[in-house]
Amino acid sequence: MACLSPSCTLFTPTPTFASASSSSNSSSRPVLAKPSQFFTHAKRRNRFRVSCDAINGEQNLKDDSKNVDSQGKVDRRNMLFGLGGLYGAANLTSNPLAMAEPIKPPELDKCGTATNLNTGEKLDVNCCPPVTPKVIDYKLPPVRFIRTRPSAHRVTPEYIFKYNMAIDRMKRLPENDPRNFMQQANIHCAYCNGAYDQPGQGTLDLQVHNCWLFFPFHRWYLYFYERILGKLIGDPTFSLPFWNWDNPKGMTIPPMFVDSKSALYDEKRNQENLPPAVIDLGLTGSKDPLQVVANNLTIMYSEMIRGNKTAEDFMGSAYREGTSPNPGPGASERGSHTSVHAWVGDPRQPSGEDLGNFYSAGRDPLFYCHHANVDRMWTLWQYFLPSDKVPDKKITDPDFLNASFVFYDENAQLVRVTVRDSLDNLRMGYDFERIDLPWLDYRPPAQAARTKVMKASSSDAPKADSVFPVVVDQIIRVTVPKAKKGKADELLVLENIEVDTTKLLKVDVFVNDEDDNQSELDKASYVGTYAQLPHKTKNKTAKTTISLKLTEVYEDIDVEGDDTIVVTLVPRHQGGGITIGGIKIIEAPASSSSSSKSSSSSKSS
Ligand code: C2O
Repeated sequence: MACLSPSCTLFTPTPTFASASSSSNSSSRPVLAKPSQFFTHAKRRNRFRVSCDAINGEQNLKDDSKNVDSQGKVDRRNMLFGLGGLYGAANLTSNPLAMAEPIKPPELDKCGTATNLNTGEKLDVNCCPPVTPKVIDYKLPPVRFIRTRPSAHRVTPEYIFKYNMAIDRMKRLPENDPRNFMQQANIHCAYCNGAYDQPGQGTLDLQVHNCWLFFPFHRWYLYFYERILGKLIGDPTFSLPFWNWDNPKGMTIPPMFVDSKSALYDEKRNQENLPPAVIDLGLTGSKDPLQVVANNLTIMYSEMIRGNKTAEDFMGSAYREGTSPNPGPGASERGSHTSVHAWVGDPRQPSGEDLGNFYSAGRDPLFYCHHANVDRMWTLWQYFLPSDKVPDKKITDPDFLNASFVFYDENAQLVRVTVRDSLDNLRMGYDFERIDLPWLDYRPPAQAARTKVMKASSSDAPKADSVFPVVVDQIIRVTVPKAKKGKADELLVLENIEVDTTKLLKVDVFVNDEDDNQSELDKASYVGTYAQLPHKTKNKTAKTTISLKLTEVYEDIDVEGDDTIVVTLVPRHQGGGITIGGIKIIEAPASSSSSSKSSSSSKSS
């Protein structure tokens, strides 16, 4: 059961997915396969209109048919074309609670030795980019056309030819050209393996994972990578493909990456997981491909919708100047994102290279295709998820918006970029092919759950207080008091999660689940996941807190009248390496909370 080791065999048969998805649009202009899913009534249409005071808000990407709605508001897409600077000018009022400073970009001349995350040893690779004296503030160019990133399983032979040629040319650039393939891979190594310290903060590492910088950093990384590739083949419209692992039709490694003669090929991948193996986003090790697909869709629904209360629950915890690295990963980062890395990484290599370890992940061209889908998840969450399900999509904290990074652009110019400028993919000039979202309504059926759940009152599980803190090296089951009786809006908080940062870790969380078949996640009792990829901090441990929203779970399982619930923690990794300090249930804060300073956990050391 507990199978996180990349050597676990998953299954072999080729599944068929006759009815799971319907991505059938073939016109060059992307349209939603099922617009009705998003525009069920007029009220929702209005919610998707442009709002000039919202940068990270509910602006719509579609509905191109009309540019002006019944209330005379102008469609966002038209505004984008003519008024490139407007969104940048639509500044956010500063947060009176802000006390710290945003993360500053690294000083390239102070780039140090990176560390192998699994062994703690210094790496024999130099991850540091060339040092250039001049850095300029990057201005998003006016958007004259939109690059549409295609689903990697649906691209044409012509596209594959061009993509292959672009990567090949990138590999042939001089070694010290910052646009060279290895230099690009090393961006990830340097930003993620402790090669940089936070400027002016002593020896505190600069770390862009496990915090709210996760989405913005990787968005900028891919943005320049894509522009470099386009420049190398003289095609400014070139768009990176996304690995559509959230749709059954995309749940294998995209075929173009497994042609050993292609520049897209990388031999350091788990050979058990080459096509037709179906990606196991839950890392459950289930051998049943249909069960794996059901798990995957449940995980997507959970991490995109069901488990998040605040924007930071999805995006990751606050990380400012002076914050210890890894304050807390968002649901998407610690869920599907981490699993894809771990699932593709090669168990024959010493440390899961290439995709299974941060320092080497960028050496596999598949990394950028994977992250294009991670980036797509951010866009979907921002602009497509209905506001009644995900009410809180903005982080307005200036320490978030003003955080900055440096990259080399397509002209090998070093540029400084901000999180603020990364919030809107259309303003950055790209979009995604529209593909059906089969997880959008994948709420586990309540009825089925009722037959399987146990009542907390009849459980012999010990009280959480008597068990925590606890090392999660086996299945742990405890009772936890609810904050209130009935079906209240509550959060399950796992606090002071202390992890060995050199290890791959994953723990799934269930409520009132008496079923011992933990490779089934498609049930109401599955609440969410904590997981991390190996990464490095100076002292090899990090403290993190996550919270999981229980509102829907309470609706779907029979908790009415109960004072307690039973929580089951199921580790998917081997051995220890993770201690959870405490577990508790609290009333959910009002949904605007994400704009305030986040919990004290973000400052924990
Ligand atoms: Cu920077 Cu998928 O990691």
